[in-house]
This record gives sequence, C-alpha cells and structure tokens, in this order.
Amino acid sequence: MRKKIVAGNWKMNKSWPEAMELTKSLSLNSSSFPADVQVIVSPPALYLQGVRSELPETLAIAAQNCSQHESGAYTGEISAGMLKSMGVAYCIIGHSERRQYYGETNEVIREKIDACLKNGVTPIFCCGEILSERNSGEHFNTVSTQVKQALFHLSEEQLALVVIAYEPVWAIGTGVTASNEQAEEMHAFIRSIVAQHYSETIANDISILYGGSVNAANAKELFACPNVDGGLVGGASLKAADFTTIIQAAQ
Ligand code: 13P
Repeated sequence: MRKKIVAGNWKMNKSWPEAMELTKSLSLNSSSFPADVQVIVSPPALYLQGVRSELPETLAIAAQNCSQHESGAYTGEISAGMLKSMGVAYCIIGHSERRQYYGETNEVIREKIDACLKNGVTPIFCCGEILSERNSGEHFNTVSTQVKQALFHLSEEQLALVVIAYEPVWAIGTGVTASNEQAEEMHAFIRSIVAQHYSETIANDISILYGGSVNAANAKELFACPNVDGGLVGGASLKAADFTTIIQAAQ
C-alpha cells in the first residue's frame, strides 16, 4: 500500500523567529492531521535541527538538497550522511530550481539519489517539464527521461524507498495549477513506466506527489485523483492554516 504524503518545501524563506512561529503553529495543529498522512516539513538546512526539536515525532523533516559526495573538501555542501546523523529522514532531490539555477543534470541527480539511499535518507525525487515542452507535446518524453536517468539503475528494493514528485515547472509559484486531468494523466504515465521497468506491484506501491501551486482551495480535488498520493507544497506551506487544510485534504 502506498503512503499518502504531504510535504511543505519552504525553499529559501523565513527568518529563524518566523520559522519557529510556523513550526509551533504546525505542532499545535498536528492533532488534527489525519493519521494515515505522512507530513513532512522541509525548512532551509540551517533550521533543520531546530525545527525537528519543536515538531512531534509523527512529523518528519526533509532537507531541500544534499551533496552527491560522501565527505571532504566541498565547501558549503551537506552530505546525506550528515543529514541522517541529524535525524533528517527525507531529502528533496532534483527540484526544478536546482536543475534550473544550479545546473543539476539528471546524472548529478542520480548520484544524489544514490547518496541518499546509501545513507538511509529517503529521496523525494522531483521531475517535471517546462512550459515549452508541455506546449510542444514533449512533456511525456521529458519526464520519462528524467525518471529513467535518475532512478532506473536502482534495484526494486531501492526504488521502493523512493518518493516521486511530479512538479510541472510552469505550475511552480505561478498560481497556475495543473488541471486534475493533467496531473492524473502524468502520474498514471509515471506509474506505467515504473511498471514496465520493474513490476505492477512496485508501481502500485510507490508514492507520487503532485507539486505546483497546490493551495488550500485546490488540494482536495487534486488529491482525489487516483494516482496522486499527496503533494509537495511550496508557497502555501509557509502559512500554518493553509498547510493544515492541505494536509487534511489528503485524507
Ligand atoms: P509552489 O507550491 O509555490 O508552486 O511550489 C511548488 C514547489 O516547487 C514545491 O517544491
């Protein structure tokens, strides 16, 4: 049975006092979170430990990125092993902002996935097409290439540990959400290529989250799509009330 997951990606937002205020509000609201939804909070790396210590154990934390390297002279970087040693259970890998602004290729993303799995950190692997690819009908090819190049070298056992997030780049931070039909179609497609390469069982068990302008008003319909197992939420995860509504919508 695949897990329902709602993850909040704070990106590079909030001062430390603001981050603590949001964390405390989420802790207070957490008694109203559905028991069958894994809630994940992904603050900036600097705040991971502080946020972890304020959250109930039932909520998990995620880093927004990690290095593909184990350790050594990589100034400014954080390894998956370091994350694990600090109680960070998840790490977002291959977010489109990392691909776009920091030049992360499918090859680097694959190495980061490997680093996470080697160190017992669950990768939340992001994929998604840009607008011109959607408009020219290339979106299935783009996503298929991203998924295959980053994940398909993994064993069945390893893939079963990965969470996939489909985040069409044109929907991120734009207020333009993919329609329920567009989201469902791509999620079903991703599941089908996983089924072809691995098995129906693995494909049925992997959680595929939708990301891109998810908000308190549209979450319920998106999460009701049969192949959408929750969301990776940016802007709306910065407000405790909105994020709480989104979490409840995943029930
Ligand atoms: P928004 O929800 O702000 O569109 O961001 C989505 C996202 O990039 C989550 O990783």
